[in-house]
Amino acid sequence: MTASPAPAPAPSPSNRNLSPESLLFFERTWQVYHQIVADDLMEHGALFAALRPRLQAFLEEWGPAPLTMADLACGDLTTLAPLLRELPLAGFTGVDACASVIPLAQARLGGWPVPYRWLEDDLLRWAEGPGERYGLISCLFGLHHLADADKQLFLEVVADRLEPGGLLLIADTFREPGESLDHYRQRYGRRIRDSWTSLGPSFQDHVVAHVSGSDFPAEHDRFAAMAEQAGWQGEWLWRGSHQAEALLVLRRPASPEAPRQQQR
Ligand SMILES: C[S@@+](CC[C@H](N)C(=O)[O-])C[C@H]1O[C@@H](n2cnc3c(N)ncnc32)[C@H](O)[C@@H]1O
Repeated sequence: MTASPAPAPAPSPSNRNLSPESLLFFERTWQVYHQIVADDLMEHGALFAALRPRLQAFLEEWGPAPLTMADLACGDLTTLAPLLRELPLAGFTGVDACASVIPLAQARLGGWPVPYRWLEDDLLRWAEGPGERYGLISCLFGLHHLADADKQLFLEVVADRLEPGGLLLIADTFREPGESLDHYRQRYGRRIRDSWTSLGPSFQDHVVAHVSGSDFPAEHDRFAAMAEQAGWQGEWLWRGSHQAEALLVLRRPASPEAPRQQQR
């Protein structure tokens, strides 16, 4: 497995939550992420096993109305593409701050009949709008690149990009309650060195450096409290076995006198 170096990207003014170092990581090392997913090192298998039945229940509830989806920090759709192909979507938008992933994501959706489009944008800026609303918004392993204040802002503004009755899916890494960022980065680094051996030492170094410089996961319980403060009802759907990866499903509380079909 070799990583082919790409030219350093020019920082774009829209990438306000993405450091040039972090952007370089994603530009140059999709192969590392593919290996991480293929070896299930972040337990994507269990995450999607938990997500599928929840989405099935959501689809039954949503009914025949057209359902559109936006995936924020979509990357090259390594993990989401198989699920996307199963969903009865009327439209899809992929958003990522890193321009070079867009052709890769596009290649993964080859032959997919659903109308889709790509936006090179910062996920917070996208959430601030204006723009159309979506029935499903997902952000898988993207939000931990934002500082907590920006995560809070995201949780507040993204509500206006979601259709009434829609779902916001957040899969991400989280710190333990009371755990410092330094402690989190050290234990995640130990996990990479001790058990991500299939990557090989040079890619292990690369990921440790990325986690140490570009990851700012929120505390698990604090993030749920931030979501609640922003008006969401949260449901932790899955928690990985390493006290880091987890999946939170968020929705706006329905008002009893205004069923979803009437609200839309
Ligand atoms: C770990 S990858 C996850 C990719 C994909 N969501 C998945 O789970 O397979 C993180 C992605 O987040 C993107 N990203 C990081 N910060 C971002 C930001 N502020 N706005 C939009 N995309 C961002 C990176 O370019 C990268 O594609």
